[in-house]
Amino acid sequence: MNFPVNRLRRLRKNNNLRRLVRETQLSVNDFIYPLFVCPGKNINKEIKSMPGNFQMSIDNIIKECLAVKDLGIPGVILFGIPAAKDEMGTEAYSENGIIQRAVRAIKKEAADLLIITDVCLCEYTSHGHCGVIENNDVANDKSCALLAKQAISHATAGADIVAPSDMMDGRVGVIRTILDKNGFENILIMAYSAKFNSAFYGPFREAADSAPQFGDRKTYQMDPANAEEALREVQLDINEGADIVMVKPALSYLDIIYRVKHQFKIPVAAYNVSGEYACIMAAAEKKWVDEEKIMLEVLLSIKRAGADIILTYFAKKAAKLLNKK
Ligand code: PBG
Repeated sequence: MNFPVNRLRRLRKNNNLRRLVRETQLSVNDFIYPLFVCPGKNINKEIKSMPGNFQMSIDNIIKECLAVKDLGIPGVILFGIPAAKDEMGTEAYSENGIIQRAVRAIKKEAADLLIITDVCLCEYTSHGHCGVIENNDVANDKSCALLAKQAISHATAGADIVAPSDMMDGRVGVIRTILDKNGFENILIMAYSAKFNSAFYGPFREAADSAPQFGDRKTYQMDPANAEEALREVQLDINEGADIVMVKPALSYLDIIYRVKHQFKIPVAAYNVSGEYACIMAAAEKKWVDEEKIMLEVLLSIKRAGADIILTYFAKKAAKLLNKK
């Protein structure tokens, strides 16, 4: 039946009707808030390209986690800025590394907040790559062994979910096996499965001081042109034991989120990354766009595409608005 019998505007006539027929509901339940932990005391250093986000020492991270919990956000993902870096990224898997200490401290004060830890070496290596360097490239299997050590040390400290973001082949399987061997069969793996080699990570590399000192990440992160390959990456990670798979970045990859969700019917996370945040914040600062409206529209689009979980620097701001409604 066509016009004039059918008039879709009837369903949009007023707010109550629009509420009844709304297909996607954004909620505080969807969010994970990323945090950057650094050594020291009482440090709260704003990240220039990510206004409203800070490098924080553990004492301040605890306060921040309590605030996140009060807003009803289910969890945080932690990134570490180590006191010292070296070729092998030793602090990444040290018992007294920045993340291990932070996790223990947060668990004491906010036990029921989910703690996700990013498993990757780029913040900890002097060369800034996500694994061990051999012959001017990242050595896959040796890197996996170190990532597994890092995952175990995070689980031992009390992390609920480990999230490998390095893009080495086979790392999910290696991590699942070592977790199980050490009695951590109930610790989840959220795999950065389809992680693209993206210019949208720029501000994060300032925040985490993790830019590669030579070359780029093209031999391990995915080519932005590839969608079929993204599905293969996801399939492999599911086979290796991933509980949640991630697509990253989110906005230029909504098609990938959609395809992953529809093909695999498994919890899908999407990372609304630093550059996506920075672009909106910069335009909002110039009053070229309305920050709140554009934020909610962007987050909604990620959910509508199929994401169950959204990692976003907007989590606190969005939660405040959604809690008010
Ligand atoms: C570590 C890692 C990165 C991000 C999350 N984990 C950076 C990178 O791969 O260079 C990016 C997050 C963001 O941009 O918000 N490998």
